[in-house]
Amino acid sequence: MGYNLQITENIEKYIEEYSQSLHPVQKEIILYNESLGEVKKMQISVSQCYFLELIIKISNFKSVLEVGTFTGLSTLSIALALSNDGKIVALDKDIKTNQLAVNFFKKASQDNKIKTIVKPALETLQELRNNNEIFDLVFIDADKENYKKYYDYGVQLVKKSGLIIVDNVLWHGEVADPKNNGKFTNIIREFNKYVKDDNKTEQVILPLGDGFTVCRKL
Ligand SMILES: C[S@@+](CC[C@H](N)C(=O)[O-])C[C@H]1O[C@@H](n2cnc3c(N)ncnc32)[C@H](O)[C@@H]1O
Repeated sequence: MGYNLQITENIEKYIEEYSQSLHPVQKEIILYNESLGEVKKMQISVSQCYFLELIIKISNFKSVLEVGTFTGLSTLSIALALSNDGKIVALDKDIKTNQLAVNFFKKASQDNKIKTIVKPALETLQELRNNNEIFDLVFIDADKENYKKYYDYGVQLVKKSGLIIVDNVLWHGEVADPKNNGKFTNIIREFNKYVKDDNKTEQVILPLGDGFTVCRKL
């Protein structure tokens, strides 16, 4: 087996230093999240921002659906990668963090590409389904208890060969530790098995941030 690097905070900083520069408002969101203490763990990692941006650019994706906006780091990263005619619909139930996110989007002049919807995501997903909306990419990063449902909606709402990307699938590495039977570890384990057994997509887990599953709809 090849050597696998453990990504420490220092390495993450090094990645940031030697990759393309983050947009000033991406940096501002990260700084703001740091001021929140523990909650900052909610945001995706910098390498996940770069990955999302790259995949959107090389695939020329135009329409993205995001479940879990928080203060807007992943949404803004996606919007910055979209061309001017691209759009992202970003779902979250928290009106306070959503208002902060919207202010950041305006500051980065990306608000024209971003539509935020504030209510429980399952309600919006059902509405999007009823309206036969189709997206190039669905990004899932919200409450883990609903991951299977979000994934099922994702499969219905994404075009053929489109992608569903899911965050936190390695759950700090705990999913691979048989001795760990924490509630969320088990929820993520079950989710990973559910996705693996689904033949509507092909999937790969990437060790980026807290673990990204990238599913391509068949
Ligand atoms: C991990 S954070 C998202 C982080 C974000 N992608 C980023 O990079 O900053 C999860 C978000 O999901 C939202 N959330 C949790 N349960 C939800 C639900 N049932 N419907 C909609 N949003 C929900 C929370 O309010 C929170 O902002």
